Amino acid sequence: MPADREHITPLATAAADRPTSDEGDPYATSPTPLSCRRRRRRLICCVSCTALVVVAIAVVLAIIALTVYKVKDPVMTMNSVYVKNLNINLTSPHAANMTVVADVSVKNPNAASFRFGESTTALYYRAREIGVAYGPPGTAGARKMFRLNVTVDVMADRLLADPDLLVDLVGGKLDLTTSTKVGGRAKIFLIIKHHADVMMNCSMTLAVSNQSILAQSCTQRVWL
Ligand SMILES: *[C@@H]1O[C@H](CO)[C@@H](O)[C@H](O)[C@H]1NC(C)=O
Ligand SMILES: *[C@@H]1O[C@H](CO)[C@@H](O)[C@H](O)[C@H]1NC(C)=O
Ligand SMILES: *[C@@H]1O[C@H](CO)[C@@H](O)[C@H](O)[C@H]1NC(C)=O
Ligand SMILES: *[C@@H]1O[C@H](CO)[C@@H](O)[C@H](O)[C@H]1NC(C)=O
Ligand SMILES: *[C@@H]1O[C@H](CO)[C@@H](O)[C@H](O)[C@H]1NC(C)=O
Repeated sequence: MPADREHITPLATAAADRPTSDEGDPYATSPTPLSCRRRRRRLICCVSCTALVVVAIAVVLAIIALTVYKVKDPVMTMNSVYVKNLNINLTSPHAANMTVVADVSVKNPNAASFRFGESTTALYYRAREIGVAYGPPGTAGARKMFRLNVTVDVMADRLLADPDLLVDLVGGKLDLTTSTKVGGRAKIFLIIKHHADVMMNCSMTLAVSNQSILAQSCTQRVWL
């Protein structure tokens, strides 16, 4: 029994001592750390929330910037060109008559549709403008083609005013140049608009005898 008491008392004192020592320390130090932890948690939460919002905004801006940056320019091609009614009488050249029909298409390589305005095609003979034609406006859907059918009626008086014409007619070849220009606009996210002007110049050599195109080369330029 005394042994038990002896055993109990140290345990009791130890048990009594432990809570006091445990309680003494927490009361002295833990109330501030507990509130600090909450404050820190709130602070960390606030900081991480702000960081997330900033990252989200940055990602959205990057996506918009990349989308706008990735807008590809429309590509214009001269599919075919032919001359109708080439009717030049060498003995009396005043009856000259000629119509140039060009099949020009504009490809829209973008996922957004491109709206094109009126197109202008000018026809030149040796740097002298001999005819102009205007095409109607239209829309090229996503990755679709917009076709311009251009028919240029040559102003015979301008063609005939060129002193080189007779030389070229005798040689059997006419050097012609077409210049087609069209402006378009792509709408992205309803608010961002991407404007592009496309111009294509084609120079060709026309055989007078059979009205066929002997050679043709085109260059394209795009303005944003
Ligand atoms: C060219 O014009 C002359 C004079 O007007 C005419 O006699 C001749 O038949 C015409 N030639 C052609 C191929 O039209
Ligand atoms: C040009 O030729 C076509 C057909 O040959 C004719 O219908 C047209 O009236 C002519 N135009 C001129 C300006 O001579
Ligand atoms: C363009 O012209 C060609 C030849 O005349 C014709 O086959 C085609 O249908 C025309 N396209 C349009 C869109 O008018
Ligand atoms: C047209 O005529 C030129 C020469 O004048 C010739 O080289 C060419 O092969 C001819 N083309 C056709 C389709 O007959
Ligand atoms: C096309 O031709 C026109 C008229 O000659 C010229 O002003 C323009 O710079 C040319 N454009 C290109 C892309 O060659």
